[in-house]
Amino acid sequence: MKARVTANAAYAVADIDKRLYGSFLEHLGRAVYTGIYEPGHPQADAEGMRKDVIELVRALDTPICRYPGGNFVSAYNWEDGIGPKENRPRRLDLAWRTTEPNLVGIHEFADWAEKAGTEMMLAVNLGSCGLDEARAFVEYVNHPGGSYWSDLRAKNGRTQPWNCRLWCLGNEMDGPWQVGHKSASEYGHLANETAKALRGLDPTVELVVCGSSHSNMPTYPQWEATVLEATYEQVDYISLHMYFENYEKNTAEYLALPAKLDRYIGTVAGIIDYVKAKTRSKRDVKISFDEWNVWYHQRKLDAERMRAWDWPEAPRLLEDIYNFEDVLQVGCIINTFIRRSDIVRIACIAQLVNVIAPIMTDPGGGAWRQTIYWPFMLASKHGRGTALQLAVEVPTYDAAAADKVPWLDIAGVHDSNVGTLTFFAINRHGSETIEADVALERFAAKSIEHTIIRHDDLEANNTKDAPDNVSPVKGNGAALSSKGMTLNLPPHSYSMVRVI
Ligand code: AHR
Repeated sequence: MKARVTANAAYAVADIDKRLYGSFLEHLGRAVYTGIYEPGHPQADAEGMRKDVIELVRALDTPICRYPGGNFVSAYNWEDGIGPKENRPRRLDLAWRTTEPNLVGIHEFADWAEKAGTEMMLAVNLGSCGLDEARAFVEYVNHPGGSYWSDLRAKNGRTQPWNCRLWCLGNEMDGPWQVGHKSASEYGHLANETAKALRGLDPTVELVVCGSSHSNMPTYPQWEATVLEATYEQVDYISLHMYFENYEKNTAEYLALPAKLDRYIGTVAGIIDYVKAKTRSKRDVKISFDEWNVWYHQRKLDAERMRAWDWPEAPRLLEDIYNFEDVLQVGCIINTFIRRSDIVRIACIAQLVNVIAPIMTDPGGGAWRQTIYWPFMLASKHGRGTALQLAVEVPTYDAAAADKVPWLDIAGVHDSNVGTLTFFAINRHGSETIEADVALERFAAKSIEHTIIRHDDLEANNTKDAPDNVSPVKGNGAALSSKGMTLNLPPHSYSMVRVI
């Protein structure tokens, strides 16, 4: 199959906010306990944090990490996680029907984030709690000193404030499953009042208001309109979430789902514009896509197990084992964010360790990379700079999610500081190679590198015994040509091509 792509240095979408490569860690299953934190493990540091996991996170170069939830946050009292560990309460976590020992709280997470080379994106509880607990949390984390909560922080061992910039006003408040779920107008009012208080306390914070949990929600897209009308002057981002599934085991349909993601982003961008006009505002609100990933491999089983269990501590939960097909999907999802990076400024892969995650651990044992670690890492490391508006001509197919889905999914990023041009390309076709002529206009191209991820088996995964089964290798499908370059992309493959 032939394709033609044109990249021109002058045709830019936006300068990508590096927080497009954010991540997420929730008190859920083994994300925290035996994930990042496992005192007594041979790799644990003095604080009980696993150094092997920190190394894998550092290599992802994820600039922000959202914490502590997720659904968990909506019944979480952040004060339970401060002070001497022996005095911290054991609580029943209503979101996942588990027992939370509170051995990791804000101090431990902040220290870990620093070691892992990432910044905190914190969420306040607007489910079971409200404005007062939220302002106490922000005061504890960001106020320099001389007040009740900031002095308590100092007494608990941290004199300097952490100065966390990014705060989420609750989580998925449109979801009936959420503890303290609210209607759009109830939530909009609470979020606006909370935002005013938090800004009063610290005018430098950036605030994220909850949009829809997914675009199939019955309240979508009216939820966004109502919530934004109530909060427009006080918030900086509206949060969207989407998880991808392939229960039908139909690869072409599965890989068409990013077209639905694209439409979701476009619709919410339109609502933002509508509310901006309606409120006669000068502000620009952007999208924080702070939960996205593939999530279906264990989902139904987990739901049954959860209903049956008796409040276990750090059980195996949402431990999806990813395959090669998911590499292609994650590549297409990230490409969608790059192409929409003018409006999607923040995105967080959900999640980071053990729970629907690129990194897995064994309690007492090793840590390894899942298949999806690789497309995330390659984009996070090399997808920084200016997103390009590419012109792409390639045959398409009609799917349930959308018509005219291109067989080639491609995004381009120009880093003019370093002088690199990077393309991320996925061949969605299962039997045809894509031969692409790529015109490079107003770029100086001297050399080219091709990295490819491919496997004959779409179901292939990485395990602790075969951790590199699906991983990137050097490819030979890219060459410079008189007008730019040519690409040879095998069926069902993920490629990163760098022109230097
Ligand atoms: O990431 C898993 C869960 O998915 C989160 O807790 C929740 O916000 C979403 O529904």
